[in-house]
This record gives sequence, C-alpha cells and structure tokens, in this order.
Amino acid sequence: MTHDTSSPGRHLRSRAWFDDPANADMTALYLERYMNFGLALDELQSGKPIIGIAQTGSDLSPCNRHHLVLAERIRAGIIEAGGIPFEFPVHPIQETGKRPTAGLDRNLAYIGLVEVLFGYPLDGVVLTTGCDKTTPACLMAAATVNIPAISLSVGPMLNGWHKGERTGSGTIVWKARELLAAGEIDYQGFIKLVASSAPSTGFCNTMGTATTMNSLAEALGMSLPGSAAIPAPYRDRQESAYRTGLQIVEMVEADRKPSDILTRDAFLNAIRVNSAIGGSTNAPIHLIGLARHVGVELSIDDWQEFGRDIPLLVNLQPAGEYLGEDYYRAGGVPAIVSQLMTHGLIQENALTVNGRTIGDNCRGAEIEDERVIRPFDRPIKAAAGFSVLRGNLFESAVMKLSVISDEFRERYLSNPDDPNAFEGPVVVFDGPEDYHSRIDDPANGIDDSTILIMRGAGPIGYPGAAEVVNMRPPAELIKAGVHALPCMGDGRQSGTSGSPSILNASPEAAVGGGLALLRSGDRVRIDLNRGEANILIDEAELEGRRRELEAQGGYPYPRSQTPWQEMQRATVGQLSDGAVLEPAVKYQRIAQIFG
Ligand code: FES
Ligand code: MG
Repeated sequence: MTHDTSSPGRHLRSRAWFDDPANADMTALYLERYMNFGLALDELQSGKPIIGIAQTGSDLSPCNRHHLVLAERIRAGIIEAGGIPFEFPVHPIQETGKRPTAGLDRNLAYIGLVEVLFGYPLDGVVLTTGCDKTTPACLMAAATVNIPAISLSVGPMLNGWHKGERTGSGTIVWKARELLAAGEIDYQGFIKLVASSAPSTGFCNTMGTATTMNSLAEALGMSLPGSAAIPAPYRDRQESAYRTGLQIVEMVEADRKPSDILTRDAFLNAIRVNSAIGGSTNAPIHLIGLARHVGVELSIDDWQEFGRDIPLLVNLQPAGEYLGEDYYRAGGVPAIVSQLMTHGLIQENALTVNGRTIGDNCRGAEIEDERVIRPFDRPIKAAAGFSVLRGNLFESAVMKLSVISDEFRERYLSNPDDPNAFEGPVVVFDGPEDYHSRIDDPANGIDDSTILIMRGAGPIGYPGAAEVVNMRPPAELIKAGVHALPCMGDGRQSGTSGSPSILNASPEAAVGGGLALLRSGDRVRIDLNRGEANILIDEAELEGRRRELEAQGGYPYPRSQTPWQEMQRATVGQLSDGAVLEPAVKYQRIAQIFG
C-alpha cells in the first residue's frame, strides 16, 4: 500500500479503504456508501482513526442493554479525542434466556466479531462487555484480530433487596428453588423473591461470571483501572464510557494492541485476582480460550499453581454476603490488586490499556470498606482458589474452594484421619432433563452420603456445555436439613452458585471420558489434598465397561437442533482447553493483512 507517510494517521488500516490512491476505484466505492449517512469525504480522508463500538446490548440482551445508552458517551469520547465512531451489533448473548444454553453463543459471537473487525475499515474497537460470555467473546475476537481494543464493562445492577436483606441475582434463584421445593414459599413468592434481585439495568450483582469476567478484563489490563465494578446506573459509569472513548483513540495512535497487553504475566495476574474475588469457575474456560487465541501458554494447572493458595478477600455473594454496589464502593479491582501487590503476587510490569503498568495504576489503591474487601492479612478464607482434580474419571476437573460451606465441611471433610477426602455412592444423571425429571424420585435412594453425577453436559454432549452441575438435593433431603450434596460432572456451573461442585470435567462423557463408565451405586473417592477423584472399582471391570460402551457406539447424546450446534460440535475442544473452535486457534494477529 502506498500511504503518504507524512500525513497524520499514516499507519491506519482504515486508509486501505478510504484513502488509497493505488486503488482509487475501490476507494470511491467504499467512500460513497459510508458517506451516505452523513459522513463527509474530508472527514473520512482526514487520517482520523475509525473506531468501532462493538455493541452487545439489545432488547434480547438485557444485562448489556445499558450499553445502548453508554454508546453515546463512548462516541463523545472518541470524537473529542479525534476519532470517528462506527457502532455495529455483536451477536446477542443472554445467559439466562438462551436455549438450550448460552454456552453455544460465546464462540458464535467470537467468530462473527472476528469477521467484522478483520473485514471492515476499523482502526480500533471499544468492546462493550457485561453478561457472562459477552466479555470473553469480545476479548477473544480482539485477540485474534489484534487491533487496538479496550473493554468497557456495563457494570452490575444495583443491589437487590427483600425484607431488608440483600438478594443477589442468580444466587437467590438457587435459594428460592430450595424454599419452593421445601414448601416454604409458593410460586408467587418464588417469582417475587427472584425478581427482587434484579432492581435495575446492568449485569448480575453477585460475583457471578459477569462480575468475574469484567473484573478479570480489568486485571488483564484490557479496561480502564477502576472501571469494572461501577454499577450500571451510576453517573461514574457514564464518565467511564466517555473516558474509554478517549482512551481508544490514544491507543490507536500509540498502536497499543491486545498482544502487547495480554501477556502471560497479565494472565497470571488475572488468575490471582480471580481467587481473591471468589471468581466464577467459568473463568478458567474463558481465560484459557483467550490465551490460546492470543498465543500465550496457559494451562488448567496454572490455576492451581498460581491461584489455589490465594486468599479470598472479597465478601460478595455467592461466597460471601455483599453485592455489586458494595464491591465498587469498597474499592473494586484496584484495591484487590494493591493488596496482592503488597505480597509480591502481581506481575507489576504488565502493560494496560492506558499505557501504564498495572503496578502504576493500582499502587496504593485503598480499601474503602473492610467489611466488603478485606486486607490480605485478614482474609475471609485462606487458600480460596481452584483445586484441579484428576483420576480415572477425567484428566482434569475444577473445584472452587472458596464456596465450601461450613455445613459441607462438617458433613464431608471432618474425618480426623483424612480431613480432605471423602467417598460415597453415586447417583448418575444423563443431562439436565434427566436430572429434573428424576431428582425427587425416592427410587434413587439418595441420602446425605450420595455424590450426584451430571454427565452428557459438556461442550459436545450438551452442545456448548450447560451450567447444570450444581444440583439441589431431593426436596425430602432439603426438608431434613441437607442443603448441598457433593456434585460432579462434565458440564459447567453458574458463577452465581455457591455449590462446591467438581465440574468442567474433561474429557467429557460424550468423547469417551471416564464419567461415561459410571453407574449409579458405584463408589467414588475424592481427595482434595492429592487432587484426585477416582471410581473405586478395578481396572478390569472398567475396561469391560469401556468395551461395552464402544460396542454400543459410545456415550449417546441428543441430536443437534440447529446448524450451529452441529458446526460447533464438529470443531469445539474440551473445557480444559478453553472450549474454543479449534481450527480458529491458528489464525493469530490477522489485522496486519490489511494493515
Ligand atoms: Fe446476564 Fe447474569 S444473566 S449477567
Ligand atoms: Mg452463567
């Protein structure tokens, strides 16, 4: 390309569309169509950067809907800093509304956004993030294309309240289901209790996957410091949208790209922050996926090695008591990073979107309310990260240590001879429909020693991997005071659930993982110290079952219902590898093809 290297904006890829003397007829074609809604020729040829606003909000995506409002402030910032904003839609993802599971949509939104960022005249992009999978989908696409990118969290909802107590989105649903099952509330009461947790625009106000992923985007350096936790309706959220618009133009001028920010150091920071906030078990899936798209080594074992022993500092539901507004007022991500820094647990030189290091951004950030964010030396729980388990049932699975309740510890982990191991008979469910239809059936023989197994719920078995491993006990058991049984499975679990399940088991039953061999009544032993989960039957018996299963054509799973389900099933990897579209991984830093 024959760019005039003396004029401003000389390095901009958008000039290959709008200002390419060597390709004058195509340039005219591109120009006339973008001018038809009011842009001027000299504006498009001024050398001003064209900045995308990847809009994830819509009526179908209520968690992110406030981005439709914030986009005005993003635009103002972009224009103020000398850029030209181009807003466009991203495939909607609604965590709770999408059937059969929003797990299908992260990769679909990813692949769509890659095409947009690659194939249109964009020099940089503001990623509007929020609801669970919108954040990883956008970050992954920006990583693959590698144009300057900054994420803007839409922010959590205001705190929910019911009868003077905080009700957290998602988390209250698990509670309300128990109350309904136990007959303590009726259907009207159930709806009222659940709706109380969602009082305003914004994403789930608990430390679910949305708050987690937006906090981690900030910890990775991909959003402005202090911006992840600002509640959606607060005025500061509008200001942060404006500043994000200003910043992206500076990033384009400095040519600061995702590959400069998303280094291994940045991922290690995010792993540690995830433990300190009590983050979602979806985080390893999304961060490993992101790392693979940007070409950084990151494995499931890194979560145990760097994250397991980090203490829980944030007192947010489901691991604690408080909610999003409290998290923001207590200092948000900078306060947590600064606490970790005092113990040498942050790679301080990791670069962030504003051109400064995370160390410079967060050094000295104060905790404003110690009820909500604790100092490192007085944590809520010690060693609160993820334990990575393996054994003859799977090559890896994850357990979130911060949500092990006192009741659970007392019932399962109080044997003085072996305080971190327990075993019991299993009852096996094949997918969520099977679970829902049978859980209250007395024929299962479930008691408080039972381990519930959910299989057929991984990325291929239940396309996209359903958030179903956390299973409530049968109603009769809840009435008797047993609120949680150990659960294990090859699906995912909502970040809003406080269940200490063993989940994300890889490989899943549908591709021959060991869970496929389990039968109700088998005994399973879980040893948290050794990081092992094993079926207690001998290898010969297991081998026999394996041959039997193969003779039947493998573990059965339901047919695809849509073209995308079939396409994703054919190309998706396992949860331990980020559940990415495997053929996409080799496409890295592709922006420069038009750069
Ligand atoms: Fe969208 Fe929780 S359902 S953030
Ligand atoms: Mg979720």
